[in-house]
Amino acid sequence: MLIKTCTPSSVLLVCLGNICRSPTAEEIFRQQAAIAGLSIKVDSAGTSDWHVGDAPDKRSQRHAKSHGYKINKLVARQVSADDFRNFDLILAMDAQNLADLQAIKDELADPEDSLAKLALFSEEDPIYSGDDVPDPYKGENDDFEDVIERIESSAQAWIESWKAC
Ligand code: 4NP
Repeated sequence: MLIKTCTPSSVLLVCLGNICRSPTAEEIFRQQAAIAGLSIKVDSAGTSDWHVGDAPDKRSQRHAKSHGYKINKLVARQVSADDFRNFDLILAMDAQNLADLQAIKDELADPEDSLAKLALFSEEDPIYSGDDVPDPYKGENDDFEDVIERIESSAQAWIESWKAC
């Protein structure tokens, strides 16, 4: 359980490939933070290196665009040890991503290098609390829509929790 904190200055959203869920979350989070008047650096990354340098998946781009989120210019990258120094909060899209992030954090040589708090993206969400944002990569249109619905809900929940702080 994450100890309640006020608005972080930086948030990193992480999934497996950084081409479907986390780039979508990056743009949704950025827009919602701006609407709420919160100044937060937002970025995304993948636990794998499978799609480094790639644009978001075309299906994610299409579904995001239909909801007003333009993600076509984002470029996939892999999460690095530096991210644990450079971000206040790292949010995992699913439990496997969270376990993989925790393993990286545990292996950092210097505990001072691991200031970032880790949490599941859905942690603050009253509707989807504790749920994964399911990987849509091998899914259908409905799965990509579900990703957007869950991300909008969970991002809003984090922002509401910081506004109340
Ligand atoms: P993401 O989805 O983690 O939401 O970006 C995936 C993208 C690619 C693969 C798996 C999940 N892949 O197996 O290449």
